[in-house]
Amino acid sequence: MIERIVHDAEVQDDPVEVELEVTLRPKDFVNYIGQERLKQNLQLAIKAAKKRGDPLDHILLYGPPGLGKTTMAMVIAHEMGANIRITSGPAIERAGDLASLLTNLQDGDVLFIDEIHRLHRSVEEVLYSAMEDFKLDIMLGKGPSARSLRLDLPKFTIIGATTRTGSLAAPLRDRFGMIHRLEFYNPSEIQKIIERAAKILNVKLDRDAAASLATRARLTPRIANRLLKRVRDYADVNGDGIIDSDISTKALELLEIDALGLDVADRMLLNAIIEHYRGGPVGVDTIAAITAEERGTIEDFFEPYLMQIGLIERTPRGRKVTPKAYRHLGKTTVENSAPDGQANLL
Ligand code: ADE
Repeated sequence: MIERIVHDAEVQDDPVEVELEVTLRPKDFVNYIGQERLKQNLQLAIKAAKKRGDPLDHILLYGPPGLGKTTMAMVIAHEMGANIRITSGPAIERAGDLASLLTNLQDGDVLFIDEIHRLHRSVEEVLYSAMEDFKLDIMLGKGPSARSLRLDLPKFTIIGATTRTGSLAAPLRDRFGMIHRLEFYNPSEIQKIIERAAKILNVKLDRDAAASLATRARLTPRIANRLLKRVRDYADVNGDGIIDSDISTKALELLEIDALGLDVADRMLLNAIIEHYRGGPVGVDTIAAITAEERGTIEDFFEPYLMQIGLIERTPRGRKVTPKAYRHLGKTTVENSAPDGQANLL
């Protein structure tokens, strides 16, 4: 697979990236740019819970990676005046791991479980009664002498994050009192996020450059911040550290990120559908096979943005490249190129 600036999985574990994300993360609603509707709903729920002296209901956040699910969970905990423990579905291997996490919480604490759709079934089952009744059911021993034990747990809040609600078992999904989708940001929100990050990082960036970066950041804060860092590198090496639109254009050209924020891998995916399947419709497994990407990567990383900006669409028979994508790639649609008009796929 091509190393991608717009792909997050590997970069996330880099300690420098993690530290950068930590310092750039807004701590409260006032500094959190975008997701206005979600913020309003959460602010209301937080106020109500505080007024009643109750813990906050469990919250499920879903949506494409990089839109700020973890950040939002941290903001929620901060606004509740609560502690937050951060873990992820695959990190909780056995029911015992979950038991130890839960028994170490205090009343009001937030347990954030990233990639909650990847929880093991056995762990998930323990979570049900924990979420519903704040009780931990554990089995002691095996066979005829086995006994079950019910422990009281503190009144905690689970915030789960997932890229797909579809892969979450219904009984788990039903235990969340609030289920919210994080939306892509609009370019002016992304521009504000970039300008805020530039200020924190002490980077000199002019308005035009911020606007140009904003249009290429896939409407995603994590990518916006990452682009800013890469362009800063370019400005430090090839200029005097100041990012103007000339520097940012050159840096983005070097990164092969085009005007819509597509990188080499996105263009390869679109071209593959066009060249092998006349623009589609084609099934996602076939796309995975021809591009050598995993199905999950295509569904989580490529498709949401490509669909958001109208370059591909989902049909009952598979994915289809749109005329807008043909135009963006400078290609002729099948419709326009077929002399007999028979192959009218678009
Ligand atoms: N940095 C990353 N995401 C952000 C957001 N939504 N608001 C402000 N700064 C951010």
